[in-house]
Amino acid sequence: MNTPGAHMPGVSVLSASWEFPMLRFGVLGSGKGSNFRALAEAFQSGTLGAQPVIVLSDVEHAGILDLAREFEIPSLFISPGSFRTKMSSEAEAEIVRLLREARVDFVVLAGFMRVIKEPLLQAFPGRILNIHPSLLPAFRGLDAWRQAVEAGVPEAGCTVHLVDAGVDTGEILGQSRVPVLPSDTAESLHARIQVAEHELYPRIVREFAENLGTPEN
Ligand code: GRF
Repeated sequence: MNTPGAHMPGVSVLSASWEFPMLRFGVLGSGKGSNFRALAEAFQSGTLGAQPVIVLSDVEHAGILDLAREFEIPSLFISPGSFRTKMSSEAEAEIVRLLREARVDFVVLAGFMRVIKEPLLQAFPGRILNIHPSLLPAFRGLDAWRQAVEAGVPEAGCTVHLVDAGVDTGEILGQSRVPVLPSDTAESLHARIQVAEHELYPRIVREFAENLGTPEN
């Protein structure tokens, strides 16, 4: 494992002042962007070990684009094309072009509601992370918190995993557990899962960046 700064006396691996160029990542999101906010705040406080350098959204007025402006990170709406569950191949090629132009080392999905296809998977093999609001492999797909309440399970949670060609099937990098309370609605459970997400995602991104080591670009 390559831990930038670890060899320097008095310099924590979590220090904001890196001796080496920091790893760079792009963010894709479709929604309000609370996970992106958690990542951007961790970066600002010097605890992330990687820098968000571009935010892309398939939803023109998504909150995540407003947040990116708030954090002064370049952001762009990419028109997704006419499919409902995936990007057109032109749109995905444009995303790859923008991520490469931004010299990202890896990609973080933060509430991105479309399936990732070959051009993007091939451009960043083993380097695309996603967060999913269940304890995978349970409750893949949409509204996992609602699936958990309807199934009557005692425990839910969230999972950070690598993205592969399947839906929520890639290698699991970390999970947090959240109890399901008898009084829970789908909405109240999702709100508590999101609190866990905001702690889990920065922690796993930091570990992932530490394991990747020094930037390639
Ligand atoms: C999160 O619950 C995440 O697990 C799922 O989409 C939601 C995104 O929320 N993939 P936000 O946009 O980060 O607030």
